[in-house]
Amino acid sequence: MEPARLRAAYPVLRETAYLNAGTCGPVAEEAAQAARAELHVATDDGRWMPYFERMIDLQTRQRSAYAARLGAAASDVALTTSTSEGIVRVLAGLDLGPEDEIITSDEEHPGLIGPLGHAARRLQVHVRTVPFERLAEAVGPATKLVAASHVSWVTGQVAPAELRDVAARGIPVLLDGAQGVGAIPIDVAELRCTFYAAAGQKWLGGPVGTGLLYVDPAWHERLPSIGPTYLNLQDPGAGLDAAPHVDARRHDASALSAEASAWAVAAHEVVDTTIGWPAAYEHAATLAQQLADELTARGREVAPRGRTTLVSWVEDDPKAFAQRALAHRVIVRDLPGWPYVRASVGAWNDESDLERLLALIP
Ligand SMILES: Cc1ncc(COP(=O)(O)O)c(C=O)c1O
Repeated sequence: MEPARLRAAYPVLRETAYLNAGTCGPVAEEAAQAARAELHVATDDGRWMPYFERMIDLQTRQRSAYAARLGAAASDVALTTSTSEGIVRVLAGLDLGPEDEIITSDEEHPGLIGPLGHAARRLQVHVRTVPFERLAEAVGPATKLVAASHVSWVTGQVAPAELRDVAARGIPVLLDGAQGVGAIPIDVAELRCTFYAAAGQKWLGGPVGTGLLYVDPAWHERLPSIGPTYLNLQDPGAGLDAAPHVDARRHDASALSAEASAWAVAAHEVVDTTIGWPAAYEHAATLAQQLADELTARGREVAPRGRTTLVSWVEDDPKAFAQRALAHRVIVRDLPGWPYVRASVGAWNDESDLERLLALIP
């Protein structure tokens, strides 16, 4: 394994200790070039049939790349514009009402909380919030859905493994995988989750406006498409009889540009062709643990975490810390409403990035 080869792919790392992939991943030069190449085709040749044929081909490759990161079949993966869009599609497609309960946790991102709050108001469904580590045991007779993070964006903890038993009992589990996909190894069959919504712009290094939604094949028919437009129909030319795709493609976003898909595909390939995804997961998790240990050794309270890529620790004034770090070209962030500063450690980082951060901690 040669992590230095991967690191060299990201120009931002030349000057900056970029530890912020939990917001947006670093952009590989090759990924930017791939997007630019599509734009050149569009500017020089125009956007007619060949442009659209390339767009469809790139989307096929993007879907396969995402599926590989989930251990899923490509037909079980929809291309969305964000994690939140996938969540919205699931909540809107399920038949939920006043008698039903959704269980969620106290460590969720507004990308999940927002749609849940809306469902509560619009459908009178009861949303019950429980501690993240107690998600599985909180399930009761009225529970019709568990919707929570796979990896907590606050602490880097991993959702309880017992959620797989919940899904096995027929209660659908929607995992918000914004901090999971591309960061840690995922096998949806092992997780047994029903739905997995995630982002393209974070740990997969793609553009803002990309994302994915995995749908368990047993739910392809049960989860109706809430927004059939022409791109997610089986036969768009069939007029009023045109039906949505039968697989997860029925949840595809209504538009995704060739340049966005080219960037997403190339970003995925950069990791694949330098150190490979399994080595990337391992390197990132080891570096993140190293940072957590160093912080603890310096007397900092590190939030309880799993073997993930997020490291959060308590600072008296997290926002001021993040701003001070920025002045040293170290990019970390505070989390509004929480006492933590959060560093996102990717396989593209190395010990020099950690040292630059740790130098700010007396
Ligand atoms: C856990 C979690 N869920 C959802 C989101 C929102 O992601 P997106 O912008 O892809 O909808 C984020 C973004 O930081 C996140 O960390």
